[in-house]
Amino acid sequence: MRLKDQVAIVTGAAQGIGAAYARGLAREGAAVAVVDILDPNPVAKEIVDSDGRALPMVVDVSDEKQTQEMARKVKETFGRIDILVNNAAVYGTIVRKPFEEINVEEWDKVMAVNVRGIFLCVKSVTPYMKAQKRGKIINVTSSTFFKGNANFLHYVSSKGAVVAMTRSLARELGSHNINVNAIAPGQTMSEANLARGEGTDAHSTQSRLLKGRRLFPEHLVGTIIYLSSSDSDMMTGQVLLVDGGTAFH
Ligand SMILES: NC(=O)c1ccc[n+]([C@@H]2O[C@H](COP(=O)([O-])OP(=O)(O)OC[C@H]3O[C@@H](n4cnc5c(N)ncnc54)[C@H](O)[C@@H]3O)[C@@H](O)[C@H]2O)c1
Repeated sequence: MRLKDQVAIVTGAAQGIGAAYARGLAREGAAVAVVDILDPNPVAKEIVDSDGRALPMVVDVSDEKQTQEMARKVKETFGRIDILVNNAAVYGTIVRKPFEEINVEEWDKVMAVNVRGIFLCVKSVTPYMKAQKRGKIINVTSSTFFKGNANFLHYVSSKGAVVAMTRSLARELGSHNINVNAIAPGQTMSEANLARGEGTDAHSTQSRLLKGRRLFPEHLVGTIIYLSSSDSDMMTGQVLLVDGGTAFH
């Protein structure tokens, strides 16, 4: 077990890719706060039923009061906070449309969760990580930022901001021995994408170097564990693309 006695927070972990991250970190021995606006209890129960440690928490990451309380409760329950995986985002519920049709409310909602949410979650945990003189923050961006993508301007812009935040936070937190890195998944067969039939067409697999291979949430977990573990101690400000070879940077 590579993360024994460590404590992780995974946001957006009630379903999809975030749930896979939470299960994966727990398998490596970490206690995991399973955070979401949806019911986090089923994923937390699965972890506990597999002899892991989990704390289900209903938290809206765009609300500062709630993120502050999240960090306080995790520290109170498990005694420390070592890892934060900023996975929560408005993604699966977005209806793709030309940018002229995206209204200001939709734009602001995406930015509030995908950008402000990361800012607030990082702000909530860094006092504890600084006191421990150690921490691992992993932000979830997307390969879409490297490729550009039509009919998705608010989302792609938000994921660009995640890259910018990763680099700037790495500069600001490095002296506290806090690593800030990001994962950029390619199109992944999470429930959200399976439900809308995405990624099953020829286009999405043909453009990959690893032809014919579809990306599933489990394919992303190893990178999260690597970025959470001491194996990545000398890496910060980096973005790891895990997308089957669709984009390079
Ligand atoms: N599936 C893909 O192809 C893909 C590709 C690249 C990046 N990503 C990113 O991976 C992450 C997970 O994607 P997914 O496919 O599992 O999508 P998803 O929409 O199923 O997961 C997002 C999760 O975040 C939660 N969430 C939304 N708003 C929240 C809020 N205000 N507070 C707390 N939780 C909130 C949702 O309830 C959901 O559980 C997202 O950051 C997404 O942008 C996904």
